[in-house]
Amino acid sequence: MPIPDVQSVATTLPARYYTDPGVFRDELERFFCQDWICAGRTNQVLKAGDYFLREVAGESIIVTRDGNNSLRAFFNVCRHRGTRICALDKGHFTGRIQCPYHGWTYGLDGRLMGAPHAHEGFRHEDYPLNPVHVDVWDGHIFINLSADPAPLAGQLEDLPRKFRHWQMAELRTFRSVKYEVKANWKLIVTNYNECLHCPILHPALSAISDYLSGENDPPHRGYIGGSMEFQGGAKTMSKDGKLRRDYLPLLTADERSKVYYYAIFPNLLLSLHPDYVMTHMLWPRAVDRTDVICELHFHPNAMAKPNFEADDAVEFWDITNREDWAISELSQAGIQSRAYKPGPYSRCESLPHAFDQMVLNREKLDREKQASKKSVR
Ligand code: FES
Ligand SMILES: [Fe+2]
Repeated sequence: MPIPDVQSVATTLPARYYTDPGVFRDELERFFCQDWICAGRTNQVLKAGDYFLREVAGESIIVTRDGNNSLRAFFNVCRHRGTRICALDKGHFTGRIQCPYHGWTYGLDGRLMGAPHAHEGFRHEDYPLNPVHVDVWDGHIFINLSADPAPLAGQLEDLPRKFRHWQMAELRTFRSVKYEVKANWKLIVTNYNECLHCPILHPALSAISDYLSGENDPPHRGYIGGSMEFQGGAKTMSKDGKLRRDYLPLLTADERSKVYYYAIFPNLLLSLHPDYVMTHMLWPRAVDRTDVICELHFHPNAMAKPNFEADDAVEFWDITNREDWAISELSQAGIQSRAYKPGPYSRCESLPHAFDQMVLNREKLDREKQASKKSVR
């Protein structure tokens, strides 16, 4: 029997990618400050002045809607003496944004409107709030902290067309849960992208969905993912697999028969079900800590029905999430050991491997850019 070439076997990443605060800082900059990241949903800021905050890479970002119904995002930093303006993580501005220190006042579009006792010749137009780029894909708000980002459409590639039947902008958020996970953000992505662990870790999920079913897309520059089929007569992912809500209106028979699990780099995990959509947003806090916001979004017609219920899905995913976070934390703990060495991926782990390769490629590209900058100097 031929002996497999150990060198050719795909392996997990070296420990430093999960344990080194320097690598973590570089990744925050590379992925979370340079790329578009998912910040939330348009239904969180329905009216002018509604706002929420997001914290990323040590920055606090205000996401709001101005008087022209346009989404806006700003660094949460006053242009007077730098004070953080908003402290509450969500709320409503009554027509203006006022710094609590000396009362500098900004419009919802970021323009400075008032600066008490400013010196003579002071020009208000020189001190607007620092803007953050904002764009929307089908109800998902994305922000980009870099000065001059490439369009969001390039990062999403063909996803808007592929998933248009879910009409995600129509959906309304029914439940939002924040989990604090003691694991590196990449471990949560790799765990999401394989179901080799499902028969062992997720008995409820495995009863209604076959971990060997479905198909993976070939890895894309901006995302990885694939589908899984139901089994045992299940019609959706829930405690018993029963369908308690109508199918989302435009789905084809094929789209109704599967769940689609996609990781959209760097921080959105998108799970498309026949009757609802689940999102996970990842917010890295430290090399070994990530906040995960999991939300379930349903069709407003379903939610308006007097007999609407969603506990079957909410509880199912809460249990499954907790199983995933617990194993991700054990994974983090083991990788921190001096005994850890990169281990071989199986044939069922091609997506985690593709994600790792993307991480390595982006790191290499950055190194090359930095090297070429130095050589030009
Ligand atoms: S720091 Fe904001 S008004 Fe002075
Ligand atoms: Fe899992």
